[in-house]
Amino acid sequence: MNNGTFITFEGPDGAGKSTILSMVAAQFPNALVTREPGGIDIAEQIRQVILAKENIKMDPRTEALLYAAARRQHLVEKVKPALEAGQLVLCDRFVDSSLAYQGYARGLGLNEVFSINQFAIEQMMPDLTIYFDIEPEIGLMRINKNKGREVNRLDLENLSFHQKVREGYLLLLDRFPERIKRIDASKTMDEVFVEALKLVDRKVSEKKQR
Ligand SMILES: Nc1ncnc2c1ncn2[C@@H]1O[C@H](COP(=O)(O)OP(=O)(O)OP(=O)(O)O)[C@@H](O)[C@H]1O
Ligand SMILES: [Mg+2]
Repeated sequence: MNNGTFITFEGPDGAGKSTILSMVAAQFPNALVTREPGGIDIAEQIRQVILAKENIKMDPRTEALLYAAARRQHLVEKVKPALEAGQLVLCDRFVDSSLAYQGYARGLGLNEVFSINQFAIEQMMPDLTIYFDIEPEIGLMRINKNKGREVNRLDLENLSFHQKVREGYLLLLDRFPERIKRIDASKTMDEVFVEALKLVDRKVSEKKQR
């Protein structure tokens, strides 16, 4: 039923996920490249509520539930059909972002956030998650250099929040060593790209042999 390969790109802000994802995607013209909410109407509407600067009153559990809801809709409308058609799916952030940001950094608990996400995604965990590991200072510096980028509510959180996000990812790496593979994202773009491509290639051929 599920013949495709589902790969997610994760890591702190400014780690280089989107940059490297587009470089990898260029090697796989038939891949579905996406990110939540991925142009899915219902998920886009939910995302606007999450990111709106005026929503400073938002309760952390409300935020986690909204992310899970948007995720569900994007998964069902876009990712699942592609996987069923045997495609490679490259997704910029997925469930681990909720675990690291809401579960760990906001202190909701990894297990609690994982359980609402399991309800949302059922059994559709990624076949591979590439974790782009970077010191938050470097990541935020990279982002600030890129002035064209829109600043959203989450960017305004302080540095210690971003440090907790990274700690959260490192805990996940420990908990899911089979699924999550770490890349040192402080290396040059070309080095990071070569490592990411190797991981994707390996997973794609592994799935083909099954
Ligand atoms: N290995 C690298 N070395 C130096 N600069 C990099 C590297 N990778 C990406 N960059 C630059 O860092 C900036 C942030 O990269 P990118 O937007 O891909 O990060 P991201 O992980 O997708 O961040 P976000 O979580 O905020 O979406 C970009 O300007 C990009 O050109
Ligand atoms: Mg990005």
